[in-house]
Amino acid sequence: MIRCEGVGLRYGAQGSAEILRDLDFAVPEGGFRWLLGHSGAGKTSLLKLLYLAIRPSRGTLRLFGTDAARAPRASLPRLRRRIGVVFQDFRLLPHLSAFENVALPLRIARRPEAEVRSDVSEMLRWVGLSGRLDALPAELSGGEQQRVAIARAVIARPSLLLADEPTGNLDEPQAERLMRLIRELNRLGTTVVVATHNEALVARHPAPALALDHGRLVSGG
Ligand SMILES: Nc1ncnc2c1ncn2[C@@H]1O[C@H](COP(=O)(O)OP(=O)(O)OP(=O)(O)O)[C@@H](O)[C@H]1O
Ligand SMILES: [Mg+2]
Repeated sequence: MIRCEGVGLRYGAQGSAEILRDLDFAVPEGGFRWLLGHSGAGKTSLLKLLYLAIRPSRGTLRLFGTDAARAPRASLPRLRRRIGVVFQDFRLLPHLSAFENVALPLRIARRPEAEVRSDVSEMLRWVGLSGRLDALPAELSGGEQQRVAIARAVIARPSLLLADEPTGNLDEPQAERLMRLIRELNRLGTTVVVATHNEALVARHPAPALALDHGRLVSGG
């Protein structure tokens, strides 16, 4: 599903420091990986590579059997549609209601309206937001926005789910509920990578981890 070989990433010009260095790891289809490391270690940067927002400066990154580092730009949207992303800063569309934000991936996939209505309502009920369907993101608390972002990432049953600190704004019972949702999706076949600082959550859900330290993989490679 994911294979990184000798991947390096720098944001600046040639010669600037590499933020990620010599990454070698693979995540099999249906696998689950925690992504761990101190603040600034490179977790979000690695996730950006995996959702194809940026390309590695060197090395190869294969996703779904495609060489993502070299694939033509025009082929990227098709790959991205198979990936659900929970962004660290949510990135909800500010002019759309909670319902419409979550519905977006289903509308892009041209699902019938009746199916969109029932799937989105059910998903928002699951994350405890049935009463807030019509609220705009600005009218929601941080934890509520995070739950909308999670619902949007998983609603279309992606092949790959990438979640960046998905419990950062949630209390422990909500974080636990979210983990149950993610594990259920994983059990049904979705490959999952979750970046987190929540040690209690990791301890309750033991799974293999990719651990970064200053841009290098110190375990999980
Ligand atoms: N767009 C950018 N341009 C230049 N440097 C960047 C950019 N984004 C991140 N960095 C740098 O890359 C390093 C890794 O950042 P990254 O956001 O990947 O860390 P992180 O592990 O996700 O941290 P956190 O736990 O705080 O979210 C940091 O030193 C950061 O300053
Ligand atoms: Mg980050």
